[in-house]
Amino acid sequence: MHDVKTTAGLPKAAAYREILGQLAALFSGERSGMANAANMAAALYQALPDVNWAGFYFLQEGDLVLGPFQGKVACVRIRVGKGVCGTAAKRLETITVPDVNAFPGHIACDSASRSEIVVPLIRKGSLIGVLDVDSPTLGRFDREDAAGLGAAVDLLLLASDFGRLAG
Ligand code: SME
Repeated sequence: MHDVKTTAGLPKAAAYREILGQLAALFSGERSGMANAANMAAALYQALPDVNWAGFYFLQEGDLVLGPFQGKVACVRIRVGKGVCGTAAKRLETITVPDVNAFPGHIACDSASRSEIVVPLIRKGSLIGVLDVDSPTLGRFDREDAAGLGAAVDLLLLASDFGRLAG
């Protein structure tokens, strides 16, 4: 089994290079979107320092529905356009929130979360879900995280079939 190590202490660019290599190894030989998303949530949670939630919501019947994740139990269903996840889904763009309490409509799942980043999963021009990562530290995520997590999502989408999961 793969042993995912923390990237704490590494510069972010090096950390994401390491994480992308780990993900490529984890996805190798497996095309189940659910399985790969589950391992990606666990790998990000283990590898990224200062993170208290990492996981996915997938678009199902018009709502974002909770998928594989690591962290405290979370809200199950989010409307597109609501919260940080729903806003990223509606705009089809990555949203970095340095202070969740300053984001109108933020949905608090874990009260420890202080900052958040949400990356949409877009396949053939259509939204299939979002990756959400939360931190207990204000301003935890920046453009390097947006680029690194965006590359991780691209890898997941290339490596996986989602079939009816995101129907
Ligand atoms: N904070 C998110 C909800 C999901 S949880 O953080 C896991 C939001 O505002 O969309």
